Amino acid sequence: MICRMKGIIVAAGYGTRFLPITKTIPKEMLPVGLKPSIAYIVDEFIASGISEIIIISSRRKKALEDYFDREIELEELFRCEGKVQKLKAVEPPDAHFVFIRQAEMKGTGHALLQAKSLVGDEPCIVAYPDDLHFGDIPLARQLTEVYEKTGKCVLATILDPGDVSRYGIVDPCPDGLGVKGFVEKPARGSEPSHEVSIGRYLYTPEFFEWLEEGWEKHAGGEYYHTYALDRMIQLGKVAYHRVKGRRLDTGEPGGYLEAILHNAAGDPELRPVLERFIADYCKAL
Ligand code: G1P
Repeated sequence: MICRMKGIIVAAGYGTRFLPITKTIPKEMLPVGLKPSIAYIVDEFIASGISEIIIISSRRKKALEDYFDREIELEELFRCEGKVQKLKAVEPPDAHFVFIRQAEMKGTGHALLQAKSLVGDEPCIVAYPDDLHFGDIPLARQLTEVYEKTGKCVLATILDPGDVSRYGIVDPCPDGLGVKGFVEKPARGSEPSHEVSIGRYLYTPEFFEWLEEGWEKHAGGEYYHTYALDRMIQLGKVAYHRVKGRRLDTGEPGGYLEAILHNAAGDPELRPVLERFIADYCKAL
């Protein structure tokens, strides 16, 4: 499937939950198996037919650019030696990458505005890099299919993972598709539903117009996506989609560990190691 939609990864954040390692290593470069976590999102985009990927980073995240660049000398060496697996491992993914630096950390809404002129007149998929998706149908493609049916912005949701006060919560329309409200990080007990928005969105070009308007009015502090989202919801132009497959939040140490274990459980070489470790560990308890 070829699609003209671009994918955006908002990767400028500090990653303070992973200090001290994030003093020098971007959290998006932390490994899940042999790949850094951001590579899973790039693979999801490519599997969804997206070939133009915009990464919004910052001056302390140079490793991201290097990672998606070529390693000509190593490629040449492995090609000469006929080491096909190693060659495959070192070759960058088959996509066109554009890096934008967010000069000041002014929130995700401000970060997205840095990509407005590149987005153009096509909808785009936005990913927050903490959220990894594992499943048969890549998440970006799931959202694209909802857009093709509705023509609306699409929010990816999961059922309440336990603490609604950490997330944006969707107020769904009775048709199970439309969104009539959105509450960012509600106090427990005041949430309008259990449909929790995760870090994967399909935004139409109109969303970026509202984002810009909101930024012009913005008084100070961090600027989020909610102003534009509220406007689009008022216009009836937002749908939601319950994610098919598994979502893991690598933005906190527990979720990151789960992602590593999930990867190991699905790897024929690592699975026996994991099983042996669990068996020995349980025996020793
Ligand atoms: C952001 C969004 C929130 C969403 C969450 C998903 O919050 O603002 O609506 O539920 O990502 O991870 P953050 O985690 O940046 O505080």
